[in-house]
Amino acid sequence: MKPLWTFGRRLDESVGQPIENSPDWQQANPKRIDRALGRALELPSGGWFVVGASRGITTAPRCVRICDRHLVAWRTSQGVRLAPNECPHMGASLAEGLVLDDRLVCPWHGLTIGDEGHGSWKPLPTFDDGVLTWVRLDDEEPGVALSERPFMAPRPETFIDGVIQLWAECEPRDVIANRLDPWHGAHFHPYSFGRLKVIDLTEEAVTVRVAKRVLGPFAVEVDATFHCPDPRTIVMTIIGGEGEGSVVETHATPICPGRTAIIEATLATSDRYQFKMAQLVAGFVRPFMERSARRLWVDDAAYAERLYRLRDERPRRYRRHRLPKA
Ligand code: FES
Ligand SMILES: [Fe+2]
Repeated sequence: MKPLWTFGRRLDESVGQPIENSPDWQQANPKRIDRALGRALELPSGGWFVVGASRGITTAPRCVRICDRHLVAWRTSQGVRLAPNECPHMGASLAEGLVLDDRLVCPWHGLTIGDEGHGSWKPLPTFDDGVLTWVRLDDEEPGVALSERPFMAPRPETFIDGVIQLWAECEPRDVIANRLDPWHGAHFHPYSFGRLKVIDLTEEAVTVRVAKRVLGPFAVEVDATFHCPDPRTIVMTIIGGEGEGSVVETHATPICPGRTAIIEATLATSDRYQFKMAQLVAGFVRPFMERSARRLWVDDAAYAERLYRLRDERPRRYRRHRLPKA
């Protein structure tokens, strides 16, 4: 066991006891994780999907792929817009055009189109929450009740945000399943977590006490809950210790069958006076936050991909096993 020294705000010892004393591999009960995943998958989505960081959408149109659809994203003076990336005239990629006076200009024959649409082409319902942009795909999930806005977890009032995006060969459910298993934390990411214990477990949330390494053996210990506000999102909220109120939102957006975008927004906050100074240099702090989030997801994407492969392979193995002997 590597040495570990914690510093920073002390946590309430009366609530910091593990709910079970068995080894982590026993507590990480696959049936329990599956049940939690099943509950998450039944939550309403309102038809919304996270596209990516809002600051990544500019007046230069770009193509994004969601649910196997190619969309064009661009920014107008009224906010972000998303629409099918196919010119209604002869199908040119609008992402290869430009934006003039808030309107897309097609690169092939110069048709200009905007919010009023053109024939069956029209911009899709879009929501910019200030950190992330969402799009509503009304016919993607038959039977799902559409909502005016995405269902979002509470965020801190003031924060420094960082957003990362990476892709994995899996489905959104595998990304959520990874985060519904906090027991892997100190084993699979020893460089990040010195120790981790589950201190509360309900149908809606898992609460952990975790020592996050800052430098070598020095770590900050916090209490954090994980819960799902919709079927493709899992949110970690710090509820005790340094950075109380900070959240990490992990969103899983299907790109095409077997491929998922992992989009993670970290919204860091603190009531310490140094935080106000850090806000002044947010542009300098942001890359450090994003680097640390990305490092964890390199491992966790491999975890999610393995879940996906096993799910794909297991029925075949089972069928092979059941073949009658020759
Ligand atoms: S294809 Fe767009 S204007 Fe002709
Ligand atoms: Fe992890």
